[in-house]
Amino acid sequence: MDNFQSLIIKRRSIRHFTPELINEDHVKMILEAGLLAPTSKSSRAWQFIVVDDPDMLARLSQCKERAAEPIGRAPLAIVVAVDPTATDPWIEDASIAASYMQLQAADLGLGSCWIEVRDRYAADGTPAEEYVQELLNMPDTLPVVCILAIGHPAEERKPQAIEKLKWEQVHINKWTQR
Ligand SMILES: Cc1cc2nc3c(=O)[nH]c(=O)nc-3n(C[C@H](O)[C@H](O)[C@H](O)COP(=O)(O)O)c2cc1C
Repeated sequence: MDNFQSLIIKRRSIRHFTPELINEDHVKMILEAGLLAPTSKSSRAWQFIVVDDPDMLARLSQCKERAAEPIGRAPLAIVVAVDPTATDPWIEDASIAASYMQLQAADLGLGSCWIEVRDRYAADGTPAEEYVQELLNMPDTLPVVCILAIGHPAEERKPQAIEKLKWEQVHINKWTQR
């Protein structure tokens, strides 16, 4: 358990993982964090598909041409999907849940990386979403917002530099041209 500010300063995207599996209690805590996330009108319309089978992880990592490789190096992936007929801010709801899960993973000393799926394409031009839905036997009515690759970090990333924050993008009382 870290203090919250220290946690969000230290959290960085981790794309390389050790082969060590994630303790089941920790997997449960990460999923609980997603299930605890706020949603518009409390719709809770997300679906989380937990993937820990190495062959499935390798195939999931091919869902898009670039930038999905961390899934193939991770012992765990959580596919974040959501029913858009249940709530209009479905992208927001799914994104907040994914962020909660990433922060819970960081608090447990784990690394994670968000892999974007929406509007992305596999090397052969197949929409990444269709690829993932077919691989996981999901209905095509359930959009996939992202996949979280999660594992024990095998790389060290510098914490964020608090002195470099974009304070010029913060406006008080009214917008100011800068
Ligand atoms: C909406 C979103 C989409 C992202 N998509 C990817 C992705 O497809 N592959 C990847 O390796 N990282 C992805 N990332 C991670 C970002 O590249 C990363 O958060 C950003 O470079 C800032 O680095 P940091 O997370 O270490 O602070 C994504 C992050 C967000 C929030």
